[in-house]
Parts: sequence; C-alpha cells; structure tokens
Amino acid sequence: MINNKSSYYTSEKIFNLEINKLKLNYPVYVTDLSKLKNEGDFVLFHFYGDEYIATKSKKKISIFQNRCLHRSFPLKKKKYGNEKIICPYHGWFYNYEGKLIGIPKKDCFKTLPKNKFLSQLHPEVCGQFLFASYKKGNLKKNFGKLFKVIEKISNNINKSEFSDTIEYNANWKLCVENSLDEYHIVNVHPNNAGYYGYMKNFKYHEEGKNLILFSSENQKDSLDYKKFCKDALAGKVDHNGYKIFNIFPSTAVIIYFGFVSFTNFHIVSGKKTINNIEVFSLKDKKVSDNYVKKFVENFFTKLVYEDKEVIERYQEALNQNTSYNFKEYLSVYEERIKKFRKALL
Ligand code: FES
Ligand SMILES: [Fe+2]
Repeated sequence: MINNKSSYYTSEKIFNLEINKLKLNYPVYVTDLSKLKNEGDFVLFHFYGDEYIATKSKKKISIFQNRCLHRSFPLKKKKYGNEKIICPYHGWFYNYEGKLIGIPKKDCFKTLPKNKFLSQLHPEVCGQFLFASYKKGNLKKNFGKLFKVIEKISNNINKSEFSDTIEYNANWKLCVENSLDEYHIVNVHPNNAGYYGYMKNFKYHEEGKNLILFSSENQKDSLDYKKFCKDALAGKVDHNGYKIFNIFPSTAVIIYFGFVSFTNFHIVSGKKTINNIEVFSLKDKKVSDNYVKKFVENFFTKLVYEDKEVIERYQEALNQNTSYNFKEYLSVYEERIKKFRKALL
C-alpha cells in the first residue's frame, strides 16, 4: 500500500519543479528525419511547456523557440509543413536557422534585440530519430547502453506509415503512469491489447531510468533482454512478441506486429499533454497498406483513445478535490509506476 494525493497531478508548484529539472537533463523526441529533408521543412513540438520549431536549412537542422523576438507571438501554428518563417503579427522575418533577418519599417524602432537568434535547443540524433536537447550529450547520457540499440532499431525502419497528435486534458504523469500499467489492459482494452488476458510470459528490465518490458503470447519467444541487445548490435533485431522501451520521462518505443511505434507524451502544461504517435514499417518485414491500416485503426489508435478516455476521467476526478489523499495498492503489473515516481524525485 502506498499513499498518494490529488495534488501530485494538479499542483502548479509540483509541475513547475518537475519541468524545470527535467528540461535540463532529458531530451524530447521531435520527429523522424524523413520529415525534415528539404529546406524549409518544419515540425512544431512541445519541450517541457514551451513550443519549439525544428527546421531544416540548406546546411542543417536547427531547433528554436516558437516565439517572435518582437513581442513573443507564436511564429508557427501548423504542426508541420514547409514555409518561410515570417511572424503572422507584424511580419518580422527569420531564416531557417532561427536568425532574425528582416524587420518591416525598421527605422520606426529606437531599440532592437542585440541577439538576433531565437532561443535554441540542440538537435541530437539517434539513427533516424531527432531529439531536442537542452545540453549536448544529454541524449547519449540518458539512453545509456540503449543508444546503440535504438540506433540499430531505427536503421531497420522502412518508412513512416502514420503519425498523429492527440490532446489529453490531463497531467503528463497520469499519461505516463498509465503507459507503465499492464493491469488495466484487460479491462480497458478488451478487444485489442487485453484480448489474451493478463500477461503470462513477461519480463521487466531496467537501463538507468528507462524501463523495459518484454512479453509474448508465444512461450517460444525470447524475453532475454541482454540477448536482444547483443543481437540488435550485430544487426539482427528480434521483432517477436511485445517489446516496449519506456524512455524516461515520457517516450515509449514499441516493437510489435512487425512495426516500430512511438508514443511521446509532450508536456504542454500541468493540465494538458499531447501524445505524438508514430508508426514505422520495417525494411525486413514488408507489409501491405491494408495491414498497416488495420493495425493503425483497429489496434494502435484505438488503444490510445481508450486510454485517453480513462485518463481524462481520472484527471477530472482529481481536479474536483485537489487536496484529496488516497491509498493505492499496486499489482506486479503496476510495479513500474513506483520506479517512475522514484526516478522523478
Ligand atoms: S510579435 Fe512578431 S512581428 Fe510582432
Ligand atoms: Fe492502455
């Protein structure tokens, strides 16, 4: 039995402490590199409560804050695309590396910003995946031994089949904790993930703060994490069963049904979280468009919406009484929630 309280998921003070600490150390997944190929391509995302834009110039990928230097108006509204960077409010103009290069009627200003660059984050790459990092080197530090493994997994990607962003009216921790909970799947997802009942063959692993689950309906599938890593590094990724890598704090890399998928809980505010989901097909497992469609519609997004409903209902109740204290009894299938909370301290 453990004690918990509503304020853990509702307090602005707790939230601010969390994000101020997290943003210094833990990179955020942005996109796969195929979406930033041409000059002017951009992707909008959230980095611990602030909006950022990742853009491709001729030379490189840059990441900068989505706030105009003039009066902080958001430069981009669309989630992704290919456009010039011109502030919609008064027309200040930036290049693809986030440098201010044009001001309409410039002579009407007495003072102008000395630093011409929008506030930047470091782009860090693991295989085909782009992350935004406060400090160079954070990605490798955070991934540890998983870095090379995820790199190999990403190199086996054929192409992005599906990506979407789904808004949850909920605190980010409620979203992550739900993703670390295998106990709810039978009840909440009876027709897909919970169809076979409670997990029988499964093993939990840890790599630093990253929590890993291997499971399978098939007794013959290997749940050996060390062997998986060794084989992956040798270029042979075992795609059998379910393999879920929960990268601290809020990204999950998921291997099942011949796909590599992602869920990324992007923190918008203490009350709002965006789940950026991605589905990639694999080079060595060709699948038909119909199979992809079925997986995305009947399985993956269905799961996400079923979770969204429970999580939002949970949050709603927590909001009703923010000084409520309650007890929790965690099963073996929910043990990792404790580890996540501890890692966050
Ligand atoms: S706020 Fe961007 S040009 Fe004025
Ligand atoms: Fe779920």
